[in-house]
Amino acid sequence: MPLLAIETTCDETAAAVVTRSREILSSVVASQEQLHARWHGVVPEVASRAHVERIVPVIDEAMQRSGVPRDALEAVAVAIRPGLVGSLLVGVSAAKMIAMALEKPLVGYDHVAAHLYACRLAAPDRMRYPCVGLVASGGHTSLLHVTSPLEMERLGGTIDDAVGEAFDKASSLLGLGYPGGPAIEQAARGGNPRAYRFPRPLARDRDTLDLSFSGLKTALRYQVRPPGAAAEVPPPEGSRLADLAASFQQAAVDSVLAKVRLAVERTRCEVLAVGGGVTANTLLRETLVSYAAESGIELLVPPRELCTDNAAMGAIAWERIERGERDSLDLEVVPGLIRGRR
Ligand code: KG4
Ligand code: ZN
Repeated sequence: MPLLAIETTCDETAAAVVTRSREILSSVVASQEQLHARWHGVVPEVASRAHVERIVPVIDEAMQRSGVPRDALEAVAVAIRPGLVGSLLVGVSAAKMIAMALEKPLVGYDHVAAHLYACRLAAPDRMRYPCVGLVASGGHTSLLHVTSPLEMERLGGTIDDAVGEAFDKASSLLGLGYPGGPAIEQAARGGNPRAYRFPRPLARDRDTLDLSFSGLKTALRYQVRPPGAAAEVPPPEGSRLADLAASFQQAAVDSVLAKVRLAVERTRCEVLAVGGGVTANTLLRETLVSYAAESGIELLVPPRELCTDNAAMGAIAWERIERGERDSLDLEVVPGLIRGRR
């Protein structure tokens, strides 16, 4: 019997139905991109309200597309951490109500671990532990030593902006849309990635697996509008825009690769699993593929629709169910990252 998974950590309202053998019967994602576009980033209050409006239709749609009758569900799974508190609460409340009404077990799961579990869903035979995990999204940039689907230690992560957040802010500086990642990727096509020498903070520091993106963002800002320039500088266009976008993208990808390389060296893991919205980026994917080929490690990269937020990766809840674990209806949300673990 399958489970219903619900995911509302940030600005995507998602539900999916996944069987015990990890087959995805349906996966529905209602994006709020258009709602947040005018602010160039996620507005938490707007996100929670949109989740409230969308959660029931999204769950209905996922159930309908799966063809599974409600009574045939084995459990209700929901992402409980980390994320925006108001957003998490909507998904968790919905999951509790459904679990209570149908008298099914409720199982909470971790969103960051679920991003990596997408690799297991996409390639069950190739996923092995221990591995190095990279989660790169709008809210997280974490390097993890992953010893099982549910157990992982944080090796390092961003000390300021998440890499996806840097893409979003860079996009806004360049007068492009939201979300910034796909907009920058498109604008960078045909641009010269070496035209501007943007900083790669911490990339050469072999003593740390931490990353930093705020200096890169500031460097781009000063290229677009030099200190002292008029407040109203027109946004870059044509080849200048393409070169700025390509140089920014290259610097962000180089920064990530430097720490991925160091994490693999330090842990001596032979497998690298990646996930999160930024891993949908073509340059990052190609760079990781070349690195894996040159270093002989096994690389797992989910298909793009499993990189960005979705509820199919909530299949990770099966791992808890198979250990005999479940949660009570008192289950609480945990908005922040857990120190030392993620
Ligand atoms: O995993 P995700 O959907 O949500 C969070 O958990 O944050 O990631 C969203 C982030 C956004 O910052 C978005 O700009 C970035 O992923 N992103 C990309 C691309 N597609 C999405 N960044 C770079 N290149 C892309 N193609
Ligand atoms: Zn995410």
